[in-house]
Amino acid sequence: MNFIVTGGAGFIGSHLTKYLVEHRHFITVIDNLCKGKKEKLDPVLKDIEFVNIDILNFEKLRRVLKNVDGVFHLAALTDVRESFSREKEYFDINVNGTENILKISKEFGFKVVFASSAAVYGNITQIPVVENSERKPINPYGETKLQAEYLSEKYTKLGINAIGLRYFNVYGKGQNNAYAGVITKFLERIADRKQPIIFGDGLQTRDFVYVQDVAEASLLAMKSKVDHALINIGSGIAISIKGLAEIIIESSGLDIKPIYKEGVHGDIKASQADIRLAMKLLNWEPKTKLEDWLKEQLMDSRN
Ligand SMILES: NC(=O)c1ccc[n+]([C@@H]2O[C@H](COP(=O)([O-])OP(=O)(O)OC[C@H]3O[C@@H](n4cnc5c(N)ncnc54)[C@H](O)[C@@H]3O)[C@@H](O)[C@H]2O)c1
Repeated sequence: MNFIVTGGAGFIGSHLTKYLVEHRHFITVIDNLCKGKKEKLDPVLKDIEFVNIDILNFEKLRRVLKNVDGVFHLAALTDVRESFSREKEYFDINVNGTENILKISKEFGFKVVFASSAAVYGNITQIPVVENSERKPINPYGETKLQAEYLSEKYTKLGINAIGLRYFNVYGKGQNNAYAGVITKFLERIADRKQPIIFGDGLQTRDFVYVQDVAEASLLAMKSKVDHALINIGSGIAISIKGLAEIIIESSGLDIKPIYKEGVHGDIKASQADIRLAMKLLNWEPKTKLEDWLKEQLMDSRN
């Protein structure tokens, strides 16, 4: 089928594009390269169309989205810390940019699968978190994702099909520092035979989900008969940062212990997705285990 991936030169978007090409779909990537890199798409560049436009440019966007079967909308600014100092820009791109896609979908009738985020929940009180929990973001980035969800709710009432996937912490090759930076940092330290550094007591938990599993969930959402839903996409497993360090140290075979430093202000204490809705609506289940992937990375770095 004929799909668009916005933000296709970014971390998840480039993996998704490759996955869709492998599944024999025709892909046009839209990205203004403000954060992404076209080289990420090198292995498939000859098989896809790449269009360098800003999702805020409504007329240009409209021309590219004519005659497509569906849009995977991932383009966004994604750095929580940066969102405090660039609030207006974050709102413009993440909220108004999403509305552009939804408006054009209303005109042309294609389905939209868009990237929401676990950040819409804010400080999660009930673990694992279910989709109908209170949405109470604690930073401007999370707020933009919540506003985008509200817009999807509004436009689906006007007849469009839009599914929001609330990604948790996505990891994989080229992972985004804002979400899975801790994995990159631990692996880099271990490669230099240095102790991983933990900020805080290390008991804060995260739900890390593999990027290929996220790509699969996204395609299943596009193909599903579901018109509108907001769905958690995580591994369903909580791992503490201390636990993560221990796995990496153990797999490396080094005889070292992590170093503890003062915690980061505003760090979320606990995160874990309840993924039963994704299983039910999309017939999706994550396949890759973090532990196996980490072992593979450590093996590769040794060879
Ligand atoms: N990485 C994660 O763990 C994670 C978790 C939750 C949600 N998400 C969401 O998933 C999506 C992809 O995240 P990512 O980690 O791949 O981020 P990323 O920064 O690697 O990719 C985002 C892409 O969007 C592009 N972009 C930004 N503004 C644009 C604009 N105005 N016009 C056109 N292109 C634009 C950037 O150049 C970049 O290539 C985002 O919507 C993000 O909020 C990611």
